[in-house]
Amino acid sequence: MADPMATTIKEVFSEVSPIVETSHAKVTVVGVGQVGMACAYSILQQNLANEICLVDVVADKLKGEMMDLQHGLAFTRHCVVKADTDYSITAGSKLCVITAGARQREGETRLSLVQRNVEIFKGIVPKLVQYSPDTLILVVSNPVDVLTYVTWKLSGLPRERVFGSGTNLDSARFRFLLSEKLNIAPSSCHGWIIGEHGDSSVAVWSGVNVAGVTLHDVNPNIGEKADNENWEADIHQRVIDSAYEIIKLKGYTSWAIGLSVAKIVQGIFSNSRNVYALSTNVNGFHGLTDDVYLSLPVVLGASGITHVVKQNLASHEVEKLHKSSRALLEVQNGLTM
Ligand SMILES: NC(=O)c1ccc[n+]([C@@H]2O[C@H](COP(=O)([O-])OP(=O)(O)OC[C@H]3O[C@@H](n4cnc5c(N)ncnc54)[C@H](O)[C@@H]3O)[C@@H](O)[C@H]2O)c1
Repeated sequence: MADPMATTIKEVFSEVSPIVETSHAKVTVVGVGQVGMACAYSILQQNLANEICLVDVVADKLKGEMMDLQHGLAFTRHCVVKADTDYSITAGSKLCVITAGARQREGETRLSLVQRNVEIFKGIVPKLVQYSPDTLILVVSNPVDVLTYVTWKLSGLPRERVFGSGTNLDSARFRFLLSEKLNIAPSSCHGWIIGEHGDSSVAVWSGVNVAGVTLHDVNPNIGEKADNENWEADIHQRVIDSAYEIIKLKGYTSWAIGLSVAKIVQGIFSNSRNVYALSTNVNGFHGLTDDVYLSLPVVLGASGITHVVKQNLASHEVEKLHKSSRALLEVQNGLTM
């Protein structure tokens, strides 16, 4: 049937050349749940992409979320927002963010989610790579470290192009809690959480500093049992507990992970070479020799991860990394892929 508006359009515009669809900063978000939409909203609000594609299995919710974002486009820089259950719309994505899957139930650990989400990923990752063979993939779904490993395996992509949001969020939580204790801004508190995004994460107390003043030099017991100021319990343990606490209070976490993902997207699309704590293949670093994904500070650019920062870790911090690696390897070995 002829488009009834075609005549009006012809009267308004004289065509000079046909429209060619081009897209440079195209990002796909798979999963339009609380996390996926917080990511999409943050990306849109910060004008980071010129095309956002949403994919989910629940068609009505997907359409509703797409329309809701599209109705805000008059207030943002130019961006196309599309959504479909069919992966063909994702073709040519520079970055695919996977947030699909089951989330933790109250009190459930991230690791116990794993096989449920592996099954979901088998239906997602090959399709993303089929339509965007040059894409980078950022995994957010939990347990993020194991699922990043699974994505790397299912995708066949080189290790620098598959990474997880990892402890970028944990590090932000850490810096926020430090900022409360020190009464300065979070951005002026420098500290890194590495290792597992979860219960065995490692706070690198040996490097926590404000303007180059290392707290460990002032308080050599900081972060350890002998520390009578309880920095580990007051700060790092609260980081570990915070997802559980938020889930108990509001049912899910969303805003901070959305902002964390937007920051990572910004680093990729602007090729900024910022350093982020991302889940990456740690084989070859800190004496680790297995293909396990854990967070380390990495340099990120348009082609993915280019370097891992060689942090000068204390021996007990390295030992904690090895312990996380052994735990995750055991989970990986139990997976049916
Ligand atoms: N890495 C982090 O720091 C971090 C932080 C918060 C949450 N998460 C994780 O993110 C994930 C999503 O959490 P949420 O709160 O948005 O959950 P949610 O239940 O609100 O949303 C999940 C979405 O995934 C969709 N989905 C399910 N199967 C799918 C499939 N096969 N293909 C496409 N879409 C599919 C669902 O329809 C739903 O819309 C969870 O695994 C959660 O644990 C990670």
